Amino acid sequence: MQNRLLNLSLRFVLPLALVLGLFAYAVIPFVDDLTVRWSVRDLDVRSQSLANALQEPLGEYLQAQEERRVLQLFDRAVQDERLYALGFCDPSGRLQYHTANYPATLGCRSGSGGSGGKNQSLVHLGRGPVHVAESPVEHNGAYLGRLILVHDMGFIERRSADTRNYVIALFVLLAVVISLITVFVAHLSWRGWVSSVKRMLRGQSGQHTATPTPPEVQPIESDLRTLLNELNMERRSRDDATHMWSPEKLRALLHEQLAGDEVLVVSNREPYMHVRNRNGIQVQRPASGLVTAVEPVMRACSGTWIAHGSGSADREVVDRNDRVPVPPEKPSYTLRRVWLSKEEEQGYYYGFANEGLWPLCHIAHVRPVFRSSDWAQYEAVNQRFADAVIKEARTDDPVVLVQDYHFALLPRMVREVLPKATIITFWHIPWPNPESFGICPWREEILEGLLGSTILGFHTQFHCKNFLETVDRYLEARIEHEANTISYGGKLSQVEDYPISIAWPDGTEKWPSVAECRASVREEHGMPPDHLLAIGVDRLDYTKGIIERFQAVERMLEMHPNMVGRFTMIQIAAPTRSSLDEYQNFEARVRALVQRINSRFGSSNYQPIILKAEHHGSDQVNRYFRAAEACVVTSLHDGMNLVAKEFVAARDDDRGVLILSQFTGAARELHEALIVNPYHVEQSAEMLYRAVTMPEAEQCERMRSMRTLVKDFNIYRWAGRMLLDASRLRQRERIMSKIRSHSRTSLRRVV
Ligand code: F6P
Repeated sequence: MQNRLLNLSLRFVLPLALVLGLFAYAVIPFVDDLTVRWSVRDLDVRSQSLANALQEPLGEYLQAQEERRVLQLFDRAVQDERLYALGFCDPSGRLQYHTANYPATLGCRSGSGGSGGKNQSLVHLGRGPVHVAESPVEHNGAYLGRLILVHDMGFIERRSADTRNYVIALFVLLAVVISLITVFVAHLSWRGWVSSVKRMLRGQSGQHTATPTPPEVQPIESDLRTLLNELNMERRSRDDATHMWSPEKLRALLHEQLAGDEVLVVSNREPYMHVRNRNGIQVQRPASGLVTAVEPVMRACSGTWIAHGSGSADREVVDRNDRVPVPPEKPSYTLRRVWLSKEEEQGYYYGFANEGLWPLCHIAHVRPVFRSSDWAQYEAVNQRFADAVIKEARTDDPVVLVQDYHFALLPRMVREVLPKATIITFWHIPWPNPESFGICPWREEILEGLLGSTILGFHTQFHCKNFLETVDRYLEARIEHEANTISYGGKLSQVEDYPISIAWPDGTEKWPSVAECRASVREEHGMPPDHLLAIGVDRLDYTKGIIERFQAVERMLEMHPNMVGRFTMIQIAAPTRSSLDEYQNFEARVRALVQRINSRFGSSNYQPIILKAEHHGSDQVNRYFRAAEACVVTSLHDGMNLVAKEFVAARDDDRGVLILSQFTGAARELHEALIVNPYHVEQSAEMLYRAVTMPEAEQCERMRSMRTLVKDFNIYRWAGRMLLDASRLRQRERIMSKIRSHSRTSLRRVV
């Protein structure tokens, strides 16, 4: 505060005093001159009135030659303190009468000439300036001589000095008052500025707070915020640049930035399923983008992954706390299984999550179904998983990574018990626009649940924007669109886009070569070595555009008959959510379409489409990726789609073409893919043809560029960026709570 005042004095008050001083210096001579002129005019008038008053008696006495009475008259007149002396000059210019102190050097001054003139002047005598006025004296029409009135001017100097002092005092007073007002106003507006800027830095706007932004801050408010965002972006991209993201970097980040804090992951799908079959218990990796992405992160971070134990032999391998160390071949983290009853699984997973939220969030023209009984199970299961998180947490501020639409309510439930936890929720599927989301009967509860998160992540900025707009529509929350923050119930949530990715494969030298993969796959399916292959790998889900893809194959064979017998589409389709009618119907439609196309274009030794509707392990999938000319991803709507990135990672020969739906998050990153609208059959058919006939040089150019991107923008970057943001928020939270407790202590001391 003292410094600020000193600063203010130096910058404003001193220059002001200087200007006022100079001004006073210029004004004082003028004021002096004015004072003298006013005083002289005053004396002129006085002299004239006095001469008029003396005219009558003086004329009489002079005519009667009564010298004594003339002198008495003069002596009485000079009783006036300002009239210094009087004299009378006869018509010949002789000083006939005068008072005792009449200056001898003055004699009979004649300025008027003639009998009727009046004259005034300033005369400098040894004692200083005097005012001399002359006035003719007449009596009964006869001119008798001149009366000379001498006024002392000492009082004028005194008056001048007084006026000068008043002027100086006035300027000093003015300077003091202006300075005080300035300091006061500056102090007030400084406080306003500081609190506005602080609010901005905290990511709140005047629009949404009780204290409005002062008008002088408003013009720069958005600039400041933009600047802040740019700084954040710059810092984030600097972080990106300095971290070539790898498991080691992620581990180091956890130790440096999060001081080794514990990491807990919650998801519905478990990363490893223990399944009993004829050969005993086997471990399976589920077909799940989520698992593909998060598992390498957990290997790097250790910690605990809490998930639904859905494998038929899952219970047989856990300890008494339902924990099992994974990965089985080299355990590095703990899988904690949560058991669900058939009813719970039906209501929470199949019902609310997959018949309600899944079609709600995907634009695939399948109507969502919402049932109260499903909602009740969804709430109950979220609570059960939240309890598991709370139980597993060894500290009161763990980092909890909540995965996907199965757990929209869990962040808030955990937050209520562990207020210091850093909860990062990632929504793996698209977020719809507010109108579409508004269909959900429990929309407010879902939004409130998610806003228990510290960070809420989506694949794309577009989904973030949809989410912010949805909250804006249905909750009374403070939203900062530039900063992407939502303040609800006193809690701040950051909404960010973190495009998910895959772990860049290592140990690729152990992979069978591309030539081997090509040969073995073709041989296995009775195809000649130069047979053209496209590969599709999806869960058998209506959002994946599998029907549209097959229609494109059919259309291509119509448009390019030379491809009949030369081209095959192999579709790996892992069964999923098969107990739901929608999925059963979908599978039936897919099978029927394949059959129709195959019977139309196929023969005894040729099938244009080979449908492999069963689960395939990652090595098997990799072999197909490496064997194919093209990979086809035609999702009708997809948060990201990791199959596209896995295909790119598999092609270390820099060959192969990716056909990618414009409605996937991946299309925003993989620009060198052949981007298609899956609803446009002819366009997709043409792209398919172009892909399988693309010259090698073009394939190479496109593939290299995509490989560089996927390699750099890998899953460790996805997790690393979220954890870095989380660590910054944690640090900020720690500082804030220190400040809060410090100010509480100070307050108690004062009280
Ligand atoms: O795409 C959303 C998602 O949860 C993915 O994360 C995952 O790949 C897929 O759905 C798995 O679905 P499910 O677990 O129902 O088989």
